[in-house]
Amino acid sequence: MKEKIEALRQQFQEELEKTGSSDQVEKLRVAYLGKKGCVTQLLKGLKEVDAQQKKELGQHINQLKKQVEDKLAQQVEAIRQAEMQRRIGAAERYDVTLPVTDVSGSYHPITIVQRQLEEIFASMGFTIEDYKEIVTDYECFEAVNIPKDHPARDMQDTYYLENGQLLKTHTSAAQNAILRKYGAPCRAIFPGRCFRNEAIDASHENTFFQMEGIMVDTDISISNLIYFMKTMLSEVFERDVKVRLRPGFFPFVEPGFELDINCLICGGEGCSTCHHSGWVELCPCGMIHPNVLKAGGIDPETYTGFAFGLGLTRLVMMKYGVKDIRDLNSGNLKALSQFTHE
Ligand code: DAH
Repeated sequence: MKEKIEALRQQFQEELEKTGSSDQVEKLRVAYLGKKGCVTQLLKGLKEVDAQQKKELGQHINQLKKQVEDKLAQQVEAIRQAEMQRRIGAAERYDVTLPVTDVSGSYHPITIVQRQLEEIFASMGFTIEDYKEIVTDYECFEAVNIPKDHPARDMQDTYYLENGQLLKTHTSAAQNAILRKYGAPCRAIFPGRCFRNEAIDASHENTFFQMEGIMVDTDISISNLIYFMKTMLSEVFERDVKVRLRPGFFPFVEPGFELDINCLICGGEGCSTCHHSGWVELCPCGMIHPNVLKAGGIDPETYTGFAFGLGLTRLVMMKYGVKDIRDLNSGNLKALSQFTHE
């Protein structure tokens, strides 16, 4: 019987080495340790052995059993490791520098227009800046001349974090950092996602995009502002767009304006998008308030500048004829692709 045990030990080792998958290891386990497995059979065979030999043989068989169990477990682990290495190896061979060849889908309409605007402004010497979505109260309000308790805050209720920071309500929240970063003179645009606690309907969302721009230098006037706004709009809409400028109040500009465009959805006739007025507010703007320049470390006695806060989401709605703002955040590809597939 001893030879039989030894022969089994050898046989097991050879068979184990041939296993390459956890299924094969499991089969081997059943063949040796299962109810009818050969090690189990050996143990059963002990009944017929006389008492003297029983003890010694029993020890040998149990030793073999333990060895088989341990080796099976080791083999399962080795196979698992090898599989992982194979996958990592395959991932490493993936060449991320290869050009994308098979793209299905398209850019979101907001991305398309944002990039187009970035190109237009870059060609006019503006730097493009990215800015945080979570900002401090100072950045969002105080640095742009909206002190605590100022009524202008009522229009911009937003989502607050427990640490007192907030989701930015407008891209103007980046003005201070950008003025500090570049000093004067500077030209920069900074697109970004903004958040407000809004009652949602066809033209209001709690999440929307704006694109802010500032230009600071000696002798910047309203004429410069109008020139840049008109150039930008005619490029975006690829046609002459009727605009009107009317006074508007924003604490961070003086004077401040509302720049409206003739509603392109109804052609100025009046529809739900333009609240039946024929005009859509698109780009509030104005001359940067001296307090804002000062907060940004720029001397308002030497420098002047203009700022605008383009409603990017609204511009996209106009350009593509999107009647319901909710379509843009819906993630509904059917709704979105109709605007981006020519
Ligand atoms: N931050 C303003 C808002 O979201 C928009 C705005 C108005 C930005 C006038 C400007 C500006 O830069 O000059 O309501």
